[in-house]
Amino acid sequence: MSKPEIEAVEAHLRATPRKWLVTGAAGFIGSHLVEHLLTLDQQVVGLDNFETGTHANIEALVRSAVARGATDADDRLLVVEADVREFDAVLHACEGIDHVLHHAAIASVPRTIAEPIEGFTVNVDGSFHVLEAARQAGVRSVVHASSSAVYGDCPGEPGTGAQREQTIGRPLSPYAAHKHIAEVLGQTSNRTFGGASGLSVVALRYFNIVGARQDPEGAYAAVIPKWVALLGKGEQPVIFGDGQHTRDFCPVEDVVQANLLAATWAERVAPELRERPGDPSEGVFNIGLGGRTTLLELYDLVHAGMLELGAPCQGIAPRHEAARTGDIVHSRADITRARELLGYAPRTAMADALRSTMSWLLGRA
Ligand SMILES: NC(=O)c1ccc[n+]([C@@H]2O[C@H](COP(=O)([O-])OP(=O)(O)OC[C@H]3O[C@@H](n4cnc5c(N)ncnc54)[C@H](O)[C@@H]3O)[C@@H](O)[C@H]2O)c1
Repeated sequence: MSKPEIEAVEAHLRATPRKWLVTGAAGFIGSHLVEHLLTLDQQVVGLDNFETGTHANIEALVRSAVARGATDADDRLLVVEADVREFDAVLHACEGIDHVLHHAAIASVPRTIAEPIEGFTVNVDGSFHVLEAARQAGVRSVVHASSSAVYGDCPGEPGTGAQREQTIGRPLSPYAAHKHIAEVLGQTSNRTFGGASGLSVVALRYFNIVGARQDPEGAYAAVIPKWVALLGKGEQPVIFGDGQHTRDFCPVEDVVQANLLAATWAERVAPELRERPGDPSEGVFNIGLGGRTTLLELYDLVHAGMLELGAPCQGIAPRHEAARTGDIVHSRADITRARELLGYAPRTAMADALRSTMSWLLGRA
C-alpha cells in the first residue's frame, strides 16, 4: 500500500521549513494548527485578538508541542495581538510569510444573528483583508476555514444525506452567508490574481470538529465541551430538538492534516487538475469523516465516556428544548473530492478524539 500523501508533505516541510501565519491562533482549531506546525520545525506567526481565544491556549499548545518533541518551540512562535478587521495589521503580519491558515472568525451561528455587524465585519471584511494582504505580501497560499453551514437547507444526496461541494442550498444564518461569501472571494482571487501573483487559495468546509481546547464555558460553546462540562459537575445537559439531528464529527487532527495538504496543493498538483471550469465549488473541499451520528447517539457516547472517567453523572438523561433557529437538521460530508484531489485520508479514530477531548476537559490530559 502506498504511503499517505500527508506523510510525504510533512517530511518535505520538515526538510525545508517555512514561515506560516495562523489567524485565530489562540482559538480551538488555530491552536492545534500552530502546535502541529511547531512539531514540524516550522516558523509560525499566530495572530489573534483574543476575543474568544485565550493566552492559556497558546501556553498549552507550546507545552504540548514540546511534549511531542518540538525543540525551540518558543523561539519559532511569534504571537501577534491584532484584529483581522485592521488591514494594515494583517498586511504587516503577512510580510515574509509562505502560507496563511485563516481561522479567525466569529465562529458561532447565534452570535452572528445577535451581533450582525460584528459578525459581518470579522467574517467577511476580515477574510477579504487576509486574502488581499496575502496577495500584496507575495504569500504562496491561503487556506481558509469555511463551514458545512454553507449547505444550508440542501438535503444532500438521496439516501445518504451526504453533502457534495457542488450543490448548496439557501443559507440559514448570517454565519452561513459569511462563510459562503468568503469562499467566493477566495475563488475570485484565484481567478483574477492566481496566475500573476502565484497565490493559491483553498477553502475547507469543516463539519463538526472535535478536540481539546474547544471552549466549554463560552455562551455559544459547541455541544461536546458543553455536555462534558455539565456531566463533569453532575448537571443535566440540554439537547435542542428531539435529538434526531445528525452531525459528521471530525477529529481536529484531521483538520490539521487537511490544512497542510491544502496549503501545499498548488505545488503538488498540476493546474489542470485543480481547475474545474463551470464548477461554483472550485477550490472548496469538505473536511469531515463522512459519518453520521444523531445527537442522542453522541450523548450516549459522551455519557458512557464520562462515567468511565469517574464523572458523577450516573442516570443523568438530557433535557430537550426547542430546536434553535438556523441549526441544520442533518449534516454529513462526502469527502471523495478531498480524498481524490487533496490526498486527504482521515487517520484519527473518533473514539480516540472523544476520549482525549473529555480527558482534556476534565483536566487529566
Ligand atoms: N469548530 C468547528 O467545529 C468549526 C466548524 C466549521 C467551521 N469552523 C471555522 O473554523 C475556524 C476556527 O474555529 P474555532 O472552532 O477554532 O473557533 P474559536 O472561536 O475557538 O477560534 C476563533 C479565533 O479567532 C479569534 N478572533 C475572533 N475575532 C477576531 C478578530 N476580529 N481578529 C483576530 N482574531 C479574531 C478568536 O479570539 C479565536 O481565537 C472559524 O473560522 C470557524 O468558523 C469551525
